[in-house]
Amino acid sequence: MAHDGWPRPVLLAGTPVVGLADHLRRGGGIAYAAAVRQGRDATIDAVARSGLRGRGGAGFATGRKWAGIRDAGAGRRFAVCNAAEGEPGTFKDRALLRHDPYQVLEGLAIAAFAVGAEAAVIATKRSYAPEAARIATAIEEMAADGSFGAVPVSLVLGPDEYLFGEEKALLEVIEGKEPLPRLLPPYQHGLFATEIQTGWESVEAPADGVTGANPTLVNNVETLAHVTQVLRHGPEHLRSRGTSESPGTVVVTVVGDVTRPLVVEVDMGTPLSVLVELAGGAHPGRTLRSCYSGVANAVITADHFDVPADYESLAAIGSGLGSAGFVFYDDSACPVEVARSFSRFLYVESCGQCRSCKFGCGEITRALERLNDGAGSDHDIGVIGARLRSVTDQVRCYLATEEQVLIASVLRAFPEEFALHIEGRCSVEPARPIVVPKITDLADGVVRYDDRQASKQPDWTYAPPS
Ligand SMILES: Cc1cc2nc3c(=O)[nH]c(=O)nc-3n(C[C@H](O)[C@H](O)[C@H](O)COP(=O)(O)O)c2cc1C
Repeated sequence: MAHDGWPRPVLLAGTPVVGLADHLRRGGGIAYAAAVRQGRDATIDAVARSGLRGRGGAGFATGRKWAGIRDAGAGRRFAVCNAAEGEPGTFKDRALLRHDPYQVLEGLAIAAFAVGAEAAVIATKRSYAPEAARIATAIEEMAADGSFGAVPVSLVLGPDEYLFGEEKALLEVIEGKEPLPRLLPPYQHGLFATEIQTGWESVEAPADGVTGANPTLVNNVETLAHVTQVLRHGPEHLRSRGTSESPGTVVVTVVGDVTRPLVVEVDMGTPLSVLVELAGGAHPGRTLRSCYSGVANAVITADHFDVPADYESLAAIGSGLGSAGFVFYDDSACPVEVARSFSRFLYVESCGQCRSCKFGCGEITRALERLNDGAGSDHDIGVIGARLRSVTDQVRCYLATEEQVLIASVLRAFPEEFALHIEGRCSVEPARPIVVPKITDLADGVVRYDDRQASKQPDWTYAPPS
């Protein structure tokens, strides 16, 4: 690469941080002190000027989100760090937490200070044991140290369900409930809100009649790690890397049919082809054919592998950055089977509160299963088309849109593969089963996927081993 000393990590720089003393020795605490010195408005302004965009998937402008919480009228506020990391193909939040939970928690302390939160929460999966342990130790050390403000921070451990990471479901879990997205977003109906709205459960009016929306800030792990750097070095620091629309570095995960799967921090705008190179390229004798950025965006075909990995460039080719987890498939993977596997994942993980989502994802999955098994017909393509049009009707979260965008894109990108399947044939012989790449571990070029996902049922139970 032409870059000097590339890829020059910021968030993943150096060796893993071993404790709070190590964090402080490397400049920890400077960012929080700078935020307090500048005050709330200037802190929010600095984040806005940096151009930082949320790394949880949607790329929403972080400064604008913070200002919205600040300006939401009188009353209680909370700040939440989303460490659920449930997107298939993504391991970057766990890599960051393993490397340095302190910069993430310092970012959370800055966020809590800036929006005037009375408490902060970091929520991760119970099954992410090494990361949870590091977070718990860091919270204790930082509270005892006392230089990160007086806002209490607690760790909440949640279930493995995909929807746990969806912010409206995340708040439900923090309140001790199931990961079922509530109706209104966190800035309108935050943690422990007493307004007479929720999603799943009805809530009685408080005895004193005083209700509150408790606007709550939710930010991703990586977003908050960047916040610490922005406050430590100033907003221009972020803008000195990446692109004008997508400033800074981004921690990407590259998995699937690559020789050396990895998590690596690169400049926003680094081409996908370079990420493939970093991951050791395709297996010998194989050609990479497609790339999926999680299960939330349109498939990227090989003719677009030179696309810069940033929000605007990926949107321009009809896809998206998502949480920067890239899953590559080579010519030994059948696109119909990939579509079936990803659709089944979304069907299983759909919570069922919105009928069009659960029913639609289920119908699409069954049609893809028939096609994949060579038992499908033109009628199944019609079923998929019809359900893709209605799957997002009156839904309360984005999961159904993911199904719509992703499956429609595979149909458009590989029409000849579907045509072959209608004739009972497949271009890939022998076709291999595709396991949705929910990552359980990724280190030293070796990735492990959750093999339990294949036996997970649409009611979130697991089928007994046969
Ligand atoms: C089905 C679904 C799953 C999601 N899972 C995660 C997740 O695991 N981690 C995450 O940070 N954001 C996840 N998100 C996005 C969050 O709802 C939210 O946008 C994000 O945490 C906001 O943080 P940011 O502004 O820093 O990006 C998910 C969204 C959807 C629709």
